[in-house]
Amino acid sequence: MKILMIGSGGREHALIKKLLESPKCTKLYCAPGNGGISRDAEVVNIGVMDKENMVKFAKDNEIDLAFVAPDDPLADGMVDAFQNAGIRAFGPNANAAIIEASKVFSKNLMKKYNIPTAKYEVFDNAKKAIEYVKIHNTTPVVVKADGLALGKGVIIAQTVDEAVNAIKSIMEDKKFGASGNNIVIEEFLTGPEVSVLTFTDGKCVKPMVSSKDHKRAFDNDEGLNTGGMGTVSPNPYYTDEIADVCMETIFKPTINAMNREGRPFKGCLYFGLMLTPNGPKVIEYNARFGDPEAQVVLPRLKTDLVDICEAVIDERLSDIDIEWYDGAAACVVMASGGYPVSYKKGIEIFGLDDNGQVENSIVYHAGTKYEDGKFYTSGGRVLGVTAKAPTLDEALSAAYSAVDKIRFDGAHFRHDIGKTK
Ligand code: AMP
Ligand code: GLY
Repeated sequence: MKILMIGSGGREHALIKKLLESPKCTKLYCAPGNGGISRDAEVVNIGVMDKENMVKFAKDNEIDLAFVAPDDPLADGMVDAFQNAGIRAFGPNANAAIIEASKVFSKNLMKKYNIPTAKYEVFDNAKKAIEYVKIHNTTPVVVKADGLALGKGVIIAQTVDEAVNAIKSIMEDKKFGASGNNIVIEEFLTGPEVSVLTFTDGKCVKPMVSSKDHKRAFDNDEGLNTGGMGTVSPNPYYTDEIADVCMETIFKPTINAMNREGRPFKGCLYFGLMLTPNGPKVIEYNARFGDPEAQVVLPRLKTDLVDICEAVIDERLSDIDIEWYDGAAACVVMASGGYPVSYKKGIEIFGLDDNGQVENSIVYHAGTKYEDGKFYTSGGRVLGVTAKAPTLDEALSAAYSAVDKIRFDGAHFRHDIGKTK
C-alpha cells in the first residue's frame, strides 16, 4: 500500500515509524514532514491546509491510504476532500472534527447528553462575560477560546482581574483571531489529568493504553501552557476501575451522542480527562492523536496500525483485537530556548543518529530540518526523546540518558516528566 501522512510534527514521526513496521506499507510519503521524517519517508512539499494539491498528489501517486494527523486540516475538511476524490482517508470528517474545533459545540454536546464535564457558560460578548466573572467572583476560573488556538487558548485565571484580562485579550484584542469570537467560562476542576486516545469507527470504541501529558513549560508545572513537554504511558492514576467508569459514562456516550447529532466520528478520538473527587470528567476532546501522547502510546502498539486504520474506515473495528506491549514508555520533549513564546531556529543539533543511541530509545523529530547531512532546529518543540522499558522508572531513566547525548544551543526540557500530577 502507498500511504500518505499529512503533518510535520513528532506525532507524525511516531505514526510513520509505526506504519513502517507494517508489511502492508510499501511506500510512505509525508507532506510536509520534517528533517527527521525525511530519513524515513519521502517528504512532499505541500502545506497541511492545501487540500487541492494534497488531493492531486494523492491521485497522481495512487495513494491507497491518506492519514490526516493534525487538527486544522481535519477541521477544514481534508478527509472529506480525499473521500470526494475516491481516496481512502483516516480521520474524522469536518462535521465530526468540530468536537475539537469548537469548545462551545463540545460543551453543549456534553450537557445535552449528560457526559460529565466542568460547569460552564458561553459568551459571545466581552462585556457580558466580564460582568459574569465579576458577579460570580469565584476563582480560579477557566477562560477558553471557542476555536483552535495551538493548545494555548485556555487561561486559568487566579483572580477576577486575570479573568477580565483574559476575556479582553481573547475577545477584544483577538489574540487567537476568530477562535475567540465566542468563549467558554468554566468551573475550575482539580485532580490528576489523563489522556485516553481511542480508535473508533463511529460504532464501537477501543481505548488505547492511557497516557499523561505535561503541558506546562517548566518543572513543577510552572510557566505557560505548551503543546506538551513530555508524556508517559501508562498513566499511573488510570486504574482498570476508572477505565470502566470512563467507558460507560464518557467514551460510549460520546460516540452515541455524535451519532445522534448526525456527526459520526471515525478516526482517533482523544479524551482529555480529569479524575476529580466527583469522578472522571472531560476537560477536552481532540479529534486526533495527541502530540506528544502518540510518541508514548504508539511504541506500545503491537497490532498492525494499517489493519486498524482499514478497520476504522470500513466500520469493522469490532472485528479486530488490538494488542499492546506490557511495560511503559516515556517521552521527554527537547524544545528551543524561549518556547512557547519566541525562539531562534536554524541551530545545529549534535548527538543525533537515526536510531537514538541508548538501548530501547527512539528519537522522534518535531521541529527539525535536514541539510547536507546535518540536523538543525526549525520549530519550538524540536525532538521527542522516547524510551520503552518494563517499568516507568526504567523508561524515564532511559529517555533522560538519551536526552543527555543530544545537544543544541538553548535546548530546554523538563526534568520532572512522569513525576507530577
Ligand atoms: P485544554 O486545552 O482544554 O486541554 O486545556 C489546557 C489545560 O488547562 C488542561 O490540560 C488542564 O490542565 C487545564 N484546564 C482546562 N480546563 C480546566 C478546568 N475546567 N479546570 C482545571 N484545569 C483545566
Ligand atoms: N498533548 C496535547 C494535545 O495534543 O492536544
